[in-house]
Amino acid sequence: MPVGAAKAEGPLVLGIETSCDETAAAVVCGWRRILSNVVVSQEIHADWGGVVPELASREHLRLTLPAVRRAMSKACVGWQDLDGIAVTRGPGLVGALLVGLSVAKALAMGRGMPLVGVNHLEGHLFSLLLEDPEWKPPYLVLIASGGHTELHMVQDLGSYSLLGATVDDAAGEAFDKVGVLLGLDYPAGVLLDELADEGEENGPRFPVAKVDRPGHNFSFSGLKTAVLLHWQAIPESERPRQRPAVAASFRRAAVDALVKGVAAALEETGAPRFGVTGGVANNRLLRRELTTLAEERGIEVAFPSPRLCTDNAAMIAAAGAYHLASGCRDDLDLDADPSLRVQSETIHMKEEEPPGGRA
Ligand code: KG4
Ligand code: ZN
Repeated sequence: MPVGAAKAEGPLVLGIETSCDETAAAVVCGWRRILSNVVVSQEIHADWGGVVPELASREHLRLTLPAVRRAMSKACVGWQDLDGIAVTRGPGLVGALLVGLSVAKALAMGRGMPLVGVNHLEGHLFSLLLEDPEWKPPYLVLIASGGHTELHMVQDLGSYSLLGATVDDAAGEAFDKVGVLLGLDYPAGVLLDELADEGEENGPRFPVAKVDRPGHNFSFSGLKTAVLLHWQAIPESERPRQRPAVAASFRRAAVDALVKGVAAALEETGAPRFGVTGGVANNRLLRRELTTLAEERGIEVAFPSPRLCTDNAAMIAAAGAYHLASGCRDDLDLDADPSLRVQSETIHMKEEEPPGGRA
């Protein structure tokens, strides 16, 4: 589609995402159409069994501008076509965020175009809109990744409520740690998922935590410890044979916790549809169970494709396009906020300005 025609759908925005270990740049039109989506996963961390913040920052320094150039050329747009630049300002690793912010600010200043800072988690909420033109609020979202496990209700774009979150480890973090315990390479979530498919149904039973706090919260650290204690009690010679069953039992308990949280939040909100995003949304058992839950309740469920579930800049550009269309602009003193939370109040709305920004 020619750039001019695409722009009728909203501002044309370059998104930059560097909050953790993915260096990403994308060009999106409005919050529905992806023109390019470049994601470079930093492989350097695999040797360390987890993300090393200093290494992540250095990799972002090396990779961000090339990712931006690729996103622009894949989208077949020039700088003069863009209506603004959106960049993740938090939550995430502060050094990693600062690299993306510095690149975005330099480009915005050099090219004289608007800049908008985006909450990474709000980006995940927008990822549901990018593939299905019919998808619209109100909807519930489970964000389950290596860094976050949160349930949000999207009443409308820009209007959110947090219904629950993990009180300790994120779901993906638990998958990674248990996977490494079972001898899998980091990031171990997808490998553990595959191993669990080979496991027997009558393996050990692990507990699903009950969190004594208001809201639909999650806890995975007790489950992780239960798996560790069980694993340590197995004689070393027996462990290779037991791995699939332990993986399957862990996956069952982790997925049950997530499904229970989603079911309770659906009950409370009466949401007509829900989506799942973040790396753990790719988990096969979780997908099966949540699909069944949606069928039982007669409501819609969406799992964005894997490239939109994991960290990417298309979702950041989409949220940025929405804010730019709503009249929001940030100054060059925009700072990183490593523990930024999703809040409707942070969103600047100008009712009189129609979507479309300055296009
Ligand atoms: O959204 P994501 O790319 O963001 C970060 O947290 O950076 O998610 C990555 C997380 C990792 O913890 C990974 O192990 C987990 O998602 N993951 C999975 C699966 N695929 C990725 N966990 C369980 N089952 C999977 N199939
Ligand atoms: Zn994320």
